Amino acid sequence: MSILVAGGAGYIGSHTSVELLNAGYDLVIVDNYCNSSPLVLDRIKTITGKDFKFYECNICNREGMRKIFQQEKIDAVIHFAGLKAVGESCVKPLEYYENNVWGSVALLEVMKEFGCKKIVFSSSATVYGSENKAPFVETMPVGTATNPYGTTKIYIENILQDLYKSDNEWSISLLRYFNPIGAHPSGLIGENPNGIPNNLMPYVSQVAVGKLACLSVNGNDYPTPDGTGVRDYIHVVDLALGHIKAVQRVLKKTGVDIYNLGTGKGYSVLEVVETFKRVNGVDVPYKIAPRRPGDIATCYANADKAYKELGWKAERNLEDMCRDTWNWQKKNPNGYEQ
Ligand code: NAD
Ligand code: UFG
Repeated sequence: MSILVAGGAGYIGSHTSVELLNAGYDLVIVDNYCNSSPLVLDRIKTITGKDFKFYECNICNREGMRKIFQQEKIDAVIHFAGLKAVGESCVKPLEYYENNVWGSVALLEVMKEFGCKKIVFSSSATVYGSENKAPFVETMPVGTATNPYGTTKIYIENILQDLYKSDNEWSISLLRYFNPIGAHPSGLIGENPNGIPNNLMPYVSQVAVGKLACLSVNGNDYPTPDGTGVRDYIHVVDLALGHIKAVQRVLKKTGVDIYNLGTGKGYSVLEVVETFKRVNGVDVPYKIAPRRPGDIATCYANADKAYKELGWKAERNLEDMCRDTWNWQKKNPNGYEQ
């Protein structure tokens, strides 16, 4: 079976590519490197000892994508190719709608032309909005996003739902990720944020390695046990393995299935910082800062459906996530740039 991974050079895509190769799938990665490095490809080969096809192409480029589908026999697509910075999406909404929404439409059109109607899509817990209360369950109505990035995820989910209504031959899996962190235990691939990180774990690890001076904890007056924001952190390798199960399902059956990929357990910002310090024996200076606009207090999954229907659950704990993040950070203090 041959799987096309759009955005496969990125953080989650590279880890999923490793697990697809380990599981024996043939792999075709498509990426335009707008947020990744060609070095990732060699690292994937080193980890797995396996080879795969790669095409540098923007998914918005229908002609380019057609050529790939002409050359390769693709059984299913995993679609990671999107821009993902919440703050940037507020400054450049049109880029986000064009890249994420039109890119997805273009990809789906080409898939349809070639009779490939099986897709796993990277959605986000952000689609639950602030109207729902954690634990989030797939049956809850989709909420309102507070930023254009989140809106693109809601639009693309809707587009995929409509596509299935129009043609019941499609097999679609919408995976709502909670907070992916960690890295492959080899330390060869990991998250490589551009500039100053927005997300907690890359910020913590850059403070620990001395690139940044001090973590700002965004608010300690939330209605949570210690007042800081609570999130459902999931190890990126567990997340990658969830994609293998989702791909197996879309290869087998038609329909639209939605799955939360989270652990079902929330940790506060201070719990993450303390665990990181303890497990890695490093210091992470922090100060309490004002709340970050748009943040919710608590976000964690009900992860039962993925276990019942996919036979998947997260196996790695917060200590593993902190250890593997630090291993990657220490070995690659400048990400893929050295
Ligand atoms: P990432 O930026 O590391 O990976 C995305 C990859 O897609 C990059 O390699 C980028 O170069 C590529 N890409 C982007 N637009 C493209 C285009 N038009 N054509 C071809 N390639 C393109 O991000 P990630 O963290 O690996 O996230 C993957 C997906 O998961 C994204 O859709 C993201 O929105 C979603 N997601 C991520 C998180 C998270 O916290 N990381 C949470 C929820 C959902
Ligand atoms: N935080 C800090 N200091 C920082 C960074 C983050 O205190 O420097 C806090 C946040 O306020 C929040 C928690 O750490 O309480 C987690 O923040 P992240 O930015 O790591 O993650 P979010 O839950 O805010 O956002 C993530 C993804 C989004 C996605 C959202 C919902 O980054 O893309 O989950 O799925 F939309």
